[in-house]
Amino acid sequence: MSVPEGVLARETASRRTFAIISHPDAGKTTLTERLLLYGGAIHLAGAVRAKRNQRHTTSDWMELERQRGISINTTVLQFNYDSTRINLLDTPGHEDFSEDTYRTLTAADAAVMLIDAAKGVEARTRKLFEVTRLRGLPTFTFINKLDRPGRDPLELIDEVEQVLGIRCSPMTWPIGMGDEFRGVYDRMANEVLLYDKSSAAAGRRLAPVAVGGLDDPRLHTLLSCDERVYQRLRSELELLTIAGEPLDLKRVLAGQLTPVHCGSALSGFGVEPFLKDLLRLAPAPPPRPSSSGTIAPTADFFSAFVFKLQANMDPQHRDRVAFLRVCSGHFERNMRVLHVRSGRDLRLARPLQFFGQDRVVVDEAWPGDILGVVDTSDTLRIGDTLTDGAALEFEAVPAFAPEYFGRTRIVDPLRRKALRKGLEHLAEEGVVQLYRPRERGEFDPIIGAVGALQFDVLQSRLKNEYGVDVQIDRLAYQQARWAVGPAFDPSFFAAREDSQCLIDRDGL
Ligand code: G4P
Repeated sequence: MSVPEGVLARETASRRTFAIISHPDAGKTTLTERLLLYGGAIHLAGAVRAKRNQRHTTSDWMELERQRGISINTTVLQFNYDSTRINLLDTPGHEDFSEDTYRTLTAADAAVMLIDAAKGVEARTRKLFEVTRLRGLPTFTFINKLDRPGRDPLELIDEVEQVLGIRCSPMTWPIGMGDEFRGVYDRMANEVLLYDKSSAAAGRRLAPVAVGGLDDPRLHTLLSCDERVYQRLRSELELLTIAGEPLDLKRVLAGQLTPVHCGSALSGFGVEPFLKDLLRLAPAPPPRPSSSGTIAPTADFFSAFVFKLQANMDPQHRDRVAFLRVCSGHFERNMRVLHVRSGRDLRLARPLQFFGQDRVVVDEAWPGDILGVVDTSDTLRIGDTLTDGAALEFEAVPAFAPEYFGRTRIVDPLRRKALRKGLEHLAEEGVVQLYRPRERGEFDPIIGAVGALQFDVLQSRLKNEYGVDVQIDRLAYQQARWAVGPAFDPSFFAAREDSQCLIDRDGL
């Protein structure tokens, strides 16, 4: 159904959809929580963590998360800040869940890169950044934990530029660090944001103070810090003025330049200016390439693609949810859409939006939004396109070359049927990649994964959700010889059913 002129453009312009990428422990959960606090979505620091713990007690398959103290599951969070609707795709930091994280990035229009000031660019950040670069995603950097002793900020900037190959444009700059942390200097507004430990601990923020630039005598008084910290700030800011990269929105949007903010997510310091700049500079949902050319978000038809499938999210709801990223048009509840791959019509009767594990049924959605639909008939696959316009397909969600292989061996052969069902569902979700042995017949299926922990998740979910005990024997990489390699083909997920994805059994 068409919407009044201008409404679609307005709704699109007011949306930002981004994902946070970081190495585990850099502070992603803490930053997310702060963003939600500013958005009024939660009222208490610690609420996300509390929810995470609560979830552990209500969801059996996430038991593994609790045991390992890691976050496996990607969460979608939606909240408002000022007049912007934010879709925040939370990605698991653990390296073994990189496939899920990579796929999630296909649904984002921008990435927030979080860096621990003491550790710099860590391995996981580097890997994830490769994906954001591949997609040309604009990236916004937050250097975190300045309240702790950290590395020289100029050195950190240099490391981001050298290691990741993206230029940095510092928006705010730290004044001291660790015990000497005084706050940040906002280079764009010529303002000083003062950090005061006791105010931060009490959840209060001091108002920014405008100064007339580096030569303003008030700056020295304001900082009330020792001469060394002040002189250092001066020389660093002078250096940035001469040699630093100016902010160039075009280059930011092209993923060539990253605006850099500094702060402390734990005390909420520097987070709000970061959020404001992020919303100001990050793109609204852009046009997306498809088999029928580029589709503008304001096109007069609804279109979306599936970027994630998740079954059994909650024991109360033993169902399979497909996560859709809306690319164009206006979505309304009960809409009939074309499932392009099968050519079938689907009615989307219970579209869901999420706050972590909580789900609410929504009546409408706009470009940039993330929707969950309950897929009762197991129709949807990762990468599928849904539309109420002409049959088009969005660019495939990439499949990733497995780095680990294993052979599943069933403990009770009578459960073979359940094993097949479980493996098929979980492979569709992307928990592992599934291969048939070269020879026909009831051979033990071969599985592949980007991260070894995916095997543990598979084992645990097969047991808890499908009642099947399996043993997984690791196969050396050389043992898994591909006769043909559709696993590396981007359309793998769609093609899997009919593919001849074979393992040379002689080599096992
Ligand atoms: P993650 O999701 O990226 O894995 O990181 P998370 O937010 O869980 O943060 C990892 C640890 O770093 C947590 O401490 C958290 O409190 C701390 N942290 C995050 N931001 C800051 C910051 O700005 N300053 C300081 N000093 N610490 C920060 P933890 O002891 O591992 O967990 P918890 O006991 O605080 O829950």
